[in-house]
Amino acid sequence: MKATEIKPDIYWVGAVDWAVRDFHGYVTPKGTTYNNYLILDKQITLVDTVKHNFAQVTIDNIRAVTDPSKIVNLVINHIEPDHASGIDKVMSLIPDATIYITDKGKKGLDRHFDTSGWKFKIVKTGDTLTTGKYSLLFLETPMLHWPDSMMTYIKEVKLLISQDAFGQHIATASRFDDEFTKCASHAELSDAVLDYYANILMPFGTLIKSKIAEIHKLGLDIDMIAPDHGIIWRGDPGGIIQRYLDMADGKADLSIAIIYDTMWHSTELMTLPLAKGIKDEGVDCKVIKLRSTPMSVAIKEFWRSRGCLIGSPTLNNIMYPSIAEILSHLGGLRPKNRIVGAFGSYGWGGGAVKGAYEEFKKMKLEIVEPGIQVKYKPSPEDNDMCYEFGRDFARKTKEYHANYS
Ligand code: FEO
Repeated sequence: MKATEIKPDIYWVGAVDWAVRDFHGYVTPKGTTYNNYLILDKQITLVDTVKHNFAQVTIDNIRAVTDPSKIVNLVINHIEPDHASGIDKVMSLIPDATIYITDKGKKGLDRHFDTSGWKFKIVKTGDTLTTGKYSLLFLETPMLHWPDSMMTYIKEVKLLISQDAFGQHIATASRFDDEFTKCASHAELSDAVLDYYANILMPFGTLIKSKIAEIHKLGLDIDMIAPDHGIIWRGDPGGIIQRYLDMADGKADLSIAIIYDTMWHSTELMTLPLAKGIKDEGVDCKVIKLRSTPMSVAIKEFWRSRGCLIGSPTLNNIMYPSIAEILSHLGGLRPKNRIVGAFGSYGWGGGAVKGAYEEFKKMKLEIVEPGIQVKYKPSPEDNDMCYEFGRDFARKTKEYHANYS
């Protein structure tokens, strides 16, 4: 995709990765983009690089608007390799450029590259860089989502370059939200925002709220948010900020995700009366089988829903591996404001349901105990029991959800 002017003399010069499907283990069925931005001013300044295998793409995009060797400043908002692993190729063209980066960013970069010949300017919140008509204000955002992370704000054009925050993994020829939704639906974009937040930013809700509060306190007027992935928020930047505040507060739909796996279909059979019971209580329900569904999709559906039922057969007295894996992953994502329960089949000793509840307790989620277990295969009586458990769980989910309405 060619360089695109997003504000006067400020260009998107990034790369669209249509093919990536495994983003460090996170499934990206729609690909992604690596966004970076070129400021054509007295001091030509590049904000971020791209993933190493797209370095030539961004260099060609830069070359379409200026000679890359004229760049004198390189701002690195974030050192994760999807943004900074192309830095050596960029620096080979601009060896005398000054790199503006946080202290932790510099230390991290030192671990990845021989930086001994590069010039650095360590910046912190409140520091500025005047490039000519534009002045760049740096805002550290540690642990959003790496220790080095920061954002760059350009006040003359009310532009916030937000690195990973407000991003989405969508490969698209559209650069802007209003442009994207002319061809695709708002629902598709909304789903991509949820997916990104659930899988990457879920642990950092408190930090997100305090950082947005800090931005408001600084009085930064924002009319465009340019993240490092996906589309740029031009049509409704306030909307995405409010969406982040809502997600940081744990906002969810009144719905229940049944996430399960199965060996000989007994646990799977349990999902049928469970889902029917939930639906008969007027609560929306989605049934997700792991091993048929990428974990990142299951995580997204977990986060979309107020309630979640986890179903696992017992294998060797413990949870089925895919269920143990998702609960371990969820524990790291530190979900909040969700109600959960568990179910599953067993042959002789049992143990999976008990194991799931142990994980729920570590996560400090609202729990509906003791869950439900079925020996070998659900009988008609077991099906009735599952149906009633589904109804009961749905009723409790409605009650719990009312606390957040
Ligand atoms: Fe898109 Fe944290 O890198």
